[in-house]
Parts: sequence; structure tokens; C-alpha cells
Amino acid sequence: MRTQVAIIGAGPSGLILGQLLHKAGIDAVILERRTGEYVLSRIRAGVLEQVAVDLLDEAGVGERMHREGLVHEGFEILAWGKRHRIDLHGLTGGKCVTVYGQTELTRDLMEARAAQGLPTVYEAEDVAIHDFGGTKPYVTYRKDGREHRLDCDFIAGCDGFHGVCRASVPKNAIREYEKVYPFGWLGLLSDTPPVNDELIYINSPRGFALCSMRSRTRSRYYLQVPLTDKVEDWSDDMFWEELKRRLDDEGRERLVTGPSLEKSIAPLRSFVSEPLRFGRLFLAGDAGHIVPPTGAKGLNLAATDVKLLSTALIEHYVEGSDAGLDHYSERTLRRIWRAERFSWWFTMLTHKFPNENPIEEKLRESELEYVLHSEAGRRTIAENYVGLPLDFGES
Ligand code: APR
Ligand code: PHB
Repeated sequence: MRTQVAIIGAGPSGLILGQLLHKAGIDAVILERRTGEYVLSRIRAGVLEQVAVDLLDEAGVGERMHREGLVHEGFEILAWGKRHRIDLHGLTGGKCVTVYGQTELTRDLMEARAAQGLPTVYEAEDVAIHDFGGTKPYVTYRKDGREHRLDCDFIAGCDGFHGVCRASVPKNAIREYEKVYPFGWLGLLSDTPPVNDELIYINSPRGFALCSMRSRTRSRYYLQVPLTDKVEDWSDDMFWEELKRRLDDEGRERLVTGPSLEKSIAPLRSFVSEPLRFGRLFLAGDAGHIVPPTGAKGLNLAATDVKLLSTALIEHYVEGSDAGLDHYSERTLRRIWRAERFSWWFTMLTHKFPNENPIEEKLRESELEYVLHSEAGRRTIAENYVGLPLDFGES
């Protein structure tokens, strides 16, 4: 089999890239090691920046998102028992975010791809990438017990943090930056109305918590928990009781509890690998970087990575120019580091760090108090949360 771009991974990065390339008349095959159902069963975040919303429209998959997604003009930070509103709209000259679950977005992308008859190989085993340092890369994999070979011009590594693409690059050609945080997030999804119309990020003496949502009838809540905790240690009742302790009186009164549809613990990590291009292999999304979820940047970064990558590939095929491909790594990394910085900073500001030196704890509290009470501070949060422009810092 032959294609122009072999895309490894059918998460949001691979699926959006496939859609953008298809719109431009470029062929791509997606190889995914899991089943479609498995991909859809992973519960991930759900806050989209305007840049990502525009991109999904451009990819032709925005219809349900506009119908069912919730536009949020602000969110709350609860600290010392008091709520502070981050007026995204007012502080950024009219920008907002759209709350629409990654699972739903992935479903829309999968359905659009299937409706267009575009090739996706699910349950592709032992995917291996070859000769990306030369001009004739190819990919091998096994499906239903048979070996296959896919020849291509380029390989897009959209296979997430644990994928095969980054792992196939020689160690001396790549530099990895990593910070693992000393806690995780325990998430619970339930068919209960959200406790508040807007998200609430909670900084409490018992640790961080987040009240989020998927719709007006489905909520997503998180608790900061020690890394040693296991999901089995947490009954639904224990979760709700602990969330109530971290909320304020209004929240405790309004919180509607119910059985969990899903409960899981995720570690928090900041990670960047540099560069993102190795000959004819390009990394995009979680394959190249991870942010802690506090800034809601993971999906948005994946979307902008593949926007830049698709633009560069289109320039190559349509205009015969490799300038975009040559600049992909540098341009993408600049945006990635900005989101990494914000996600790290917002995590540091809102979480409780175990065994912290008391002066560091005091300084952190003082910084949070400052940013919440200063308009400049709130604007700093707002302009990063809604997403800085794609070309920020380039002029
Ligand atoms: N062969 C084929 N597919 C693979 C391989 C492999 N060796 N390894 C991983 N994959 C697949 C995974 O099964 C997964 O479906 O690649 C896909 C990667 O998808 P994601 O992990 O969702 O990564 P990405 O598409 O970059 O999306 C980033 O997901 O984790 C969130 O916060 C993150 O929202 C962001 C988004
Ligand atoms: C979520 O709804 O899952 C969510 C929202 C905002 C975040 C992280 C996760 O910052």
C-alpha cells in the first residue's frame, strides 16, 4: 500500500490532521493500535480555545460542537473560601472558550472520516517506522495476523506520549525536558447537573479540586490526590464528601451527587521533546509534549500542532515549498513552551505541594492573592486560558 502521509495514532491529533489533509486533496492513512471503541472510552478534558474551534470548523467537523458545546465567558477560582471570577470575555477583548468533551469531538472526527471513506486501520499491531532519515520512509504493521507495509512521503507521529514514533528516534538526536508533579488528579464523571454554570478551580488547604462539566446534565469533577492513592481506595461517597470539604457553602448546597460513570487517576506531568522533526518524521500532540491539565491546554496544543503541520504539508504538495516543513519544529515549539509555562504556573499556583518548605508555601499563597486581586494578574490568567494568538511573539 502507498500513501502520501502515514499518520500513526487516531487520537485528536491524527484525526484532525487527516481531515485537514483530506480537505486539501492530500492522501493519508491512519494506523491505530486500539479499537475505535477503546479510543472513545478514554475520558479526557474538554475546553476548546477559539483557535481550536475555528480549526474544527475549517476541518468541517464543527456542526455538533456548535450545537451542543457550551460557550463560557469566564470561570471562577475559589481560594480562602471566596470565589474570584476570571472574566475571560471582559479581560481579553471579547474572547471565550467552548466546553465540549474530547470524547464527543473524537466521535465527530471518526464519523466524518468514516463517512468520507477515508482509510483508518484500527488494531494495527507492532507498528514500526522505517527510513524516515531518507527520502523513502515506510511503516510496517500487523493486522489480523498478516504483515503489511505502507510506503509514504512523510510520517506524522500522532501516537501520544507512549507511542512508537518518538521512541524510534535515536537518543542522541532528541532532548527531553520533564517534570513529574508529586500528586495526581482523581476524576469522576456523573450524570448530574454541574454545581455551577462556569468551571470552578479550587485552591483549598485540603488540596486542589476542579468542578467542570460536559453538558448541562453531565458533570466532571477532579480532586488532587497523593500519587500513592489507587482508584479502588475511593468510593463514590468518599469522593463526594471530599469534594464538599474543598468547596464553599454555596457549592456544598448546590452540589448534586450521583453514581460515577467513570473514575480514574491521572498523574500530572510537564514534558517537551525537542526537536519535533527528524527528516521525514514529524511529531504532533502528546507524542511531542504533555502539559498538566490545569490550564486545559492539551487538546488545544494538539490542534495547533496539526494546523501548522498540515499547512506545511500543503505548502510542500501544492506550492512545492518546504519552508513550512523546515520551520515546523521551531514554530510549534515556541507555542508549546508558552502553553507549558502557563500550565506549570497555574498548577503551581492552585495546588498544595506536599512537604513544601514553609516559606515557599507562603510565597505561593501571596502570589495567588496578588494575581486574584490585581486586574493585570487576572488578565494574565485570562489571555493564556483563552489562548495566545498563533503568531504571538513572532513579530
Ligand atoms: N501504533 C499505533 N497507534 C498508537 C501507538 C502505536 N505504537 N501508540 C499509541 N497509539 C495511539 C493511541 O492508542 C492513541 O489512540 O495513538 C493515539 C494517540 O492519541 P492521544 O493519546 O489522544 O494523543 P493526541 O491525539 O496527540 O491527543 C492529545 O489527548 O491526552 C490528551 O490532553 C491530551 O487532549 C490532548 C490530546
Ligand atoms: C475537564 O472538563 O475535564 C477539564 C476542564 C478544565 C481543565 C481540565 C479538565 O483545566
